Amino acid sequence: MNILVLHGPNLNLLGLREPEIYGSTTLAEVDAMVKEMAESLGCRADCIQSNHEGNLLDEIHAARGQYQGILINAGAYTHTSLALRDGLAGVGLPVVEVHLSNLYKREPFRHHSYIAPIALGQISGFGAESYTLGLRALVQHLICVNASG
Ligand code: DQA
Repeated sequence: MNILVLHGPNLNLLGLREPEIYGSTTLAEVDAMVKEMAESLGCRADCIQSNHEGNLLDEIHAARGQYQGILINAGAYTHTSLALRDGLAGVGLPVVEVHLSNLYKREPFRHHSYIAPIALGQISGFGAESYTLGLRALVQHLICVNASG
C-alpha cells in the first residue's frame, strides 16, 4: 500500500517558522516520522512539499494508479484553494487532512477548509503527531475497505 504525503506552502520552513505555533520539528523530521510509521503499518509513504498550487495539483493528478490514499497538509491553500479541493475530489482517492496547529483556536479565516468536505476526516492541533495520527487513520480506513471489498 502506497500513501502520498503532500505538504503545502511554507511547510519547508518548519522548525524555523513561528515555532510557538508550529513547533520545532523540521519537515525532514516529520517526513522521517511518517515514513517510519508507514513502515510499521506495512506500507510506504512518499513525501512531497511544494510552495506552488499547480505543482501540488500535478502531484495529486499523478497519484492516480500509483497511490491508494493521500495525506495532505495544504497549509494556507487549505483556506483558499478550490482547485486543490476539486483535484482531490477528481482523482477519487481517500484523503485525510492534517494540520500541525489547531485551526479552530486560531484566526477565523483559518476556520474554513475547502478540503474538509471531501476528506475522510481532519486532524488538527497535535503538532507533528497530526501526521502520524492521520496516516494511521488513512491506513486503517484502507485496510477496512480492502477487507470488505
Ligand atoms: C497549517 C495551518 C494553516 O492555517 C497555515 O496556513 C499553515 C499551516 C498547520 O499545519 O497548522 O501553513 O496548515
